[in-house]
Amino acid sequence: MGIFKHTAISLLSILLLSNSLTVISQQDAVQEAFLQCLLDNSHPSHPISSAIFTPQNSSFSSVLQSYIRNLRFNDTTTPKPFLIVTALHQSHIQAAIVCANKHDLQMKIRSGGHDYEGLSYVSIVPMFFVLDMFNLRTVDIDLATESAWVQTGAILGEVYYRIAEKSRTHGFPAGVCPTVGVGGHFSGGGYGNMMRKYGLSVDNIIDALLVDVNGRLHDRKSMGEDLFWAIRGGGGASFGVIFAYKINLVRVPEVVTVFNVPKTLEENATEIVYKWQHVAPNFPEELFVRLILDVVNSSSSTNGKTIRASFISLFLGDSKRLLSIMNESFPELGLSQSDCIETSWIQSVLYWTNFPVNTSAEVLLNRTPQTLTFLKRKSDYVKEPISKDGLEWLWKRMIELGPLELIFNPYGGRMAEIPASETPFPHRAGNLWKIQYVTNWNEAGAKAADRYLNLTRKLHGYMTRFVSKNPREAFLNYRDIDLGINHNGKASYWEGRVYGIKYFKGNFNRLVQIKTKVDPGNFFRYEQSIPTLPH
Ligand SMILES: Cc1cc2nc3c(=O)[nH]c(=O)nc-3n(C[C@H](O)[C@H](O)[C@H](O)COP(=O)(O)OP(=O)(O)OC[C@H]3O[C@@H](n4cnc5c(N)ncnc54)[C@H](O)[C@@H]3O)c2cc1C
Ligand SMILES: *[C@@H]1O[C@H](CO)[C@@H](O)[C@H](O)[C@H]1NC(C)=O
Ligand SMILES: *[C@@H]1O[C@H](CO)[C@@H](O)[C@H](O)[C@H]1NC(C)=O
Ligand SMILES: *[C@@H]1O[C@H](CO)[C@@H](O)[C@H](O)[C@H]1NC(C)=O
Ligand SMILES: *[C@@H]1O[C@H](CO)[C@@H](O)[C@H](O)[C@H]1NC(C)=O
Ligand SMILES: *[C@@H]1O[C@H](CO)[C@@H](O)[C@H](O)[C@H]1NC(C)=O
Ligand SMILES: *[C@@H]1O[C@H](CO)[C@@H](O)[C@H](O)[C@H]1NC(C)=O
Ligand SMILES: *[C@@H]1O[C@H](CO)[C@@H](O)[C@H](O)[C@H]1NC(C)=O
Repeated sequence: MGIFKHTAISLLSILLLSNSLTVISQQDAVQEAFLQCLLDNSHPSHPISSAIFTPQNSSFSSVLQSYIRNLRFNDTTTPKPFLIVTALHQSHIQAAIVCANKHDLQMKIRSGGHDYEGLSYVSIVPMFFVLDMFNLRTVDIDLATESAWVQTGAILGEVYYRIAEKSRTHGFPAGVCPTVGVGGHFSGGGYGNMMRKYGLSVDNIIDALLVDVNGRLHDRKSMGEDLFWAIRGGGGASFGVIFAYKINLVRVPEVVTVFNVPKTLEENATEIVYKWQHVAPNFPEELFVRLILDVVNSSSSTNGKTIRASFISLFLGDSKRLLSIMNESFPELGLSQSDCIETSWIQSVLYWTNFPVNTSAEVLLNRTPQTLTFLKRKSDYVKEPISKDGLEWLWKRMIELGPLELIFNPYGGRMAEIPASETPFPHRAGNLWKIQYVTNWNEAGAKAADRYLNLTRKLHGYMTRFVSKNPREAFLNYRDIDLGINHNGKASYWEGRVYGIKYFKGNFNRLVQIKTKVDPGNFFRYEQSIPTLPH
């Protein structure tokens, strides 16, 4: 009896083992067939072999790691792709799509890798590969038409640098961090400090090149206005691989003015923040004054901590006019000539990303960020000013939680003029500002992550009373997995609706219809993709 039992268990474990071996060898076979398909589809003059990295390749890890921008996902426990295609030519994108579709493989598309939740290179699906776009980064400026073709593997710093190389009086409205990739940034909306004057990046896109689910390359005309609408804010990775965008450059003056003025609670920060809420969304559109709130040490406050409110600005004009605007509508800040730095637009980009304002603009071509941390981000929209009592209550909560930061980005101006259905990005008129929750830490491991994630969620909870409701809106480019995940199974549509309504409000339905039309088999899917209509 005893022996029999023992044998049965061994048999069972052999069965289980061989079962999982079968799974593994099936996976191996699919991967093998996929690899062969890529090679078979290689363009004669652009061999794909030099773009393929598997874990057997000695540079696999460094290729994977070189565009990880959140250290939470640079961990041995992070799921890894079985292969990376570092596309060197448009035909490599086409081969990747055709072969992945044929073998029903999950493809992740990565441009700059700045997705806050790592969704461009991590997956909940065990077997996936990455299509990496960083080699495709030509920026072609045409001053005669004041436009440019920008390949999606370019980073924003390259776009800004190439524009400034040709002209001191042109720029482009996009994000302040120069290492962010064009692919994710433009397709997800893209905002920066010229948003009140020129709107979002997507408001200045006039054409695109996209590879569809059948591997066909389209421009705006052949993809049609629906799909062109969707890839200007709906997130590219639900619809195709965007190869390039054509943008309209915008005019900037030769001299712009920047400042950064911090005020603590002891310096009347509450009064000044209260006033900021009323004036910042109503300033002339040339003026953008961001507000950053954080907790700092203070010897003059009772518990040793205070709130610091930093007012950081870009004004598209000279300091004289800026001072007169501020004196008239925001004297509480006490801005003086000595706070103001007059410079060129391209140098203001450097200032805004914490380089000394006179740093050589070449640093914008550097693809490695100045610092990398473990991080979590969330977002909110505010439609009514917070009362002074409310602010004081918030300061207490922030001091209690500790190492968190809130960034308030004022809307109004051009943002309020563009209809909410013009692009998938729905947060237009009626929004005073957007909040970004910023939590960075330097301790590795799940325990630290758990702690900081909890703190961030707690602050988000505290903010409920001050922010948009039904839905509680969120910004797609501030990717936040807490808003819901799509397992892309039977409940795909309903799972997608949960986060989709928050990111897109009324535009979600149109995105679903376009998705259903252009990718009915849901090949272009990920954890927060646009679902197809339920059958
Ligand atoms: C330090 C930092 C600063 C930031 N500052 C700003 C800011 O000022 N303004 C702002 O709006 N946002 C900002 N963001 C957010 C940023 O815009 C988004 O994270 C954006 O999606 C990043 O684009 P990426 O190409 O670098 O990211 P990736 O991680 O490569 O991609 C993000 C998403 O887009 C998809 N995708 C990427 N490339 C393509 C493509 N070619 N075709 C189809 N789908 C594609 C990916 O699959 C993924 O779903 C910032 C992020 C960071 C980390
Ligand atoms: C693998 O790594 C080598 C360098 O070690 C590189 O030359 C090659 O292109 C990579 N890819 C393949 C598919 O060999
Ligand atoms: C990512 O992890 C690898 C080892 O797993 C390490 O060598 C590398 O330095 C890490 N990257 C960063 C930016 O910390
Ligand atoms: C704060 O405001 C009060 C009155 O509004 C004023 O008297 C005081 O000088 C201000 N303090 C600072 C540091 O500006
Ligand atoms: C603030 O004070 C704490 C101790 O209360 C200390 O550990 C920390 O280093 C201080 N931070 C700064 C930026 O001085
Ligand atoms: C600010 O406005 C006041 C009057 O409202 C005026 O006296 C003062 O000169 C102005 N200062 C500047 C720098 O414009
Ligand atoms: C920038 O300015 C600082 C002081 O104003 C100076 O010390 C530094 O050399 C300058 N750097 C460059 C690159 O011009
Ligand atoms: C984080 O929150 C979860 C759920 O509320 C809790 O179980 C966990 O203990 C918390 N972790 C830390 C480190 O506080």
